[in-house]
Amino acid sequence: MKLISTEKLKPGMIVARPIISDAGILLLNSDVTLNDSLIELIKRRGIPFLYVKDDRIDTDVKPLISPDDTAKAVYVIKKAFDQALQSSLRRSSQMNLEHLLEHLNDIVSGIVEIISRQNDLIVHLIDIKNVDSYTFQHSLQVMTISLMIGKSLDMTKNQLHNLGMGAVLHDIGKVGIPKSILNKEGPLTEEERNIVRQHPKTGFELLQDCSLVWPTARAVVLQHHEKWDGSGYPRGLAGEDIHIYSRIVAPVNVYDALISKRPYQESMLPHQAYYYIKGKAGLLFDPLVVEKFLDIVAPYPIGTWVKLNSGEVGLVTSIEPGKVAYPVVKIFYDNNLKPMKNPTTISLSENSILSIDEVVEEPSE
Ligand SMILES: [Fe+2]
Repeated sequence: MKLISTEKLKPGMIVARPIISDAGILLLNSDVTLNDSLIELIKRRGIPFLYVKDDRIDTDVKPLISPDDTAKAVYVIKKAFDQALQSSLRRSSQMNLEHLLEHLNDIVSGIVEIISRQNDLIVHLIDIKNVDSYTFQHSLQVMTISLMIGKSLDMTKNQLHNLGMGAVLHDIGKVGIPKSILNKEGPLTEEERNIVRQHPKTGFELLQDCSLVWPTARAVVLQHHEKWDGSGYPRGLAGEDIHIYSRIVAPVNVYDALISKRPYQESMLPHQAYYYIKGKAGLLFDPLVVEKFLDIVAPYPIGTWVKLNSGEVGLVTSIEPGKVAYPVVKIFYDNNLKPMKNPTTISLSENSILSIDEVVEEPSE
């Protein structure tokens, strides 16, 4: 399996990881063979990358949450957000929102179970999103990584549950922001920025009467844009005055936004976002939370082509717990970018000379 940018897709390639739409529908299933019209569709949808099969590497990483469960979860999150919009318009729909939050509660419990059982938690793969599959998959991804961090901080299942509910609902207040502002290309005006900055408070108020969302989970909705150094909003809280759940969700939210394609920005590569978060430890984000984040999220996910400082080019084939920044790389091209007859495998955590210089596309043969 390897990661390939959409422009480099060719007919005959086989999809290795499914693409799910924001309505919770499988857009493209794994094992589908690409043809010209599918490639055209992928380009039109603005999907930036795709995982395709590669005979040379038999890495098959199972995602933590299966595609079916992801699709189901995305569907319920979308419903809850839709219903929240109705509730914000008419008080009478509050009952329906409660009903959906019950479903969401079950989904969060399921994911807390999966994460509690898992020993070595690593985010191995990129969660591929395009502009119109952003909102709900983002909510799910932020929840999953936040729960992994919560587990590494030895939280109880109960704590994880409230952290998960807060994380998945963190942006629910965005239903109050006009689409024209949310999807605007280019910078926002001062007035538009002020409207966007209302969403933590809007979300907090929306959930005020929902007995299923505990106060600590609601705190995440209200505080997820607060920053460690006090430079965030809405209240400009700093340090440990910000609830620990919110301190976890804050960097995860920024990370996942950076690696996603949005109307107003191209996506960053995972390692660029990873080192951005690292650089903001103790400034924007709680340094202890960032330390855990850096142990869990792989900067060079499996399937990434990398160029080493030796000039050789290879593919990341596995990642070891505790050493996510130093993956195992299988070298396929020598330093003149000629294909190697006998590819070699190098563990960068055990090699003090070799390191990753840059992320590249596969050299054309
Ligand atoms: Fe937000």
